[in-house]
Amino acid sequence: MVAGNWKMYTTSGEGAVLVQDIAEELERELDDNALDVVVCPPFTGIKAVSTVVELDHLNMGLGAQDMFWEAEGAFTGAISARMLTELRCTHVIVGHSERREFFGETDETVNKKVHAVFAAGMTPIMCCGETLATRDALETDSFIRSQIVAGAAGLSAEQAARLVIAYEPIWAIGSGRTPTPESANDVTRAIRATIGAMYGPPAAMQVRVLYGGSVKPENASMFFSEPDIDGALVGGAALKADSFAAIAKAACGK
Ligand code: PGA
Repeated sequence: MVAGNWKMYTTSGEGAVLVQDIAEELERELDDNALDVVVCPPFTGIKAVSTVVELDHLNMGLGAQDMFWEAEGAFTGAISARMLTELRCTHVIVGHSERREFFGETDETVNKKVHAVFAAGMTPIMCCGETLATRDALETDSFIRSQIVAGAAGLSAEQAARLVIAYEPIWAIGSGRTPTPESANDVTRAIRATIGAMYGPPAAMQVRVLYGGSVKPENASMFFSEPDIDGALVGGAALKADSFAAIAKAACGK
């Protein structure tokens, strides 16, 4: 899976153009059943992008960047699952580090959202990742494990198998710095093992674990060649059709 997180960039008009440009670059790859391409515009762009995906019959997933867990109610500013499924959203990013840092997201709210996304028939892309201080203290493994145990708590084994987890070291996001592919793979393998301990070996085999943080066309295939990395969550490089397409093409070879 290669998912593009557009963050707080693109108006709906710009988003419609971007998805068309991506589709043009990926004409053949979109029909490769071994590759899932997902784009995640801001809320205001979802309808326009969804219309392009539908009218052009694009084999592409459509994701939101967040969602509230309640079905409806007096929750000013919030967006529900039903509002997203109406627009044919298939995925929702949950617990991105920027949501944790700026919007008070916790492992507990992440878990509520993961459940609500599944209940609505969509696929959560649940994010985890450590700060540089945690990494320097050699506490990455235990920190990530606790994020997974709390964030993915209470699922069925079948849901756990359909979960997508994005491992995004916070210090690598938007910084141009990345862990070595081997050290990223050490963490994604530990994530898979944690899911295995919680939900059994089939779930561990099927859960998709992505790497995210400064993924570019130049480094994507190095990450994709690692055995426990099943794709990428891409931020900055997802805003240009050619660089996002180059990353998706690199994933096609996996
Ligand atoms: P980046 O962002 O690719 O710009 O580092 C990744 C992300 O935040 O999902």
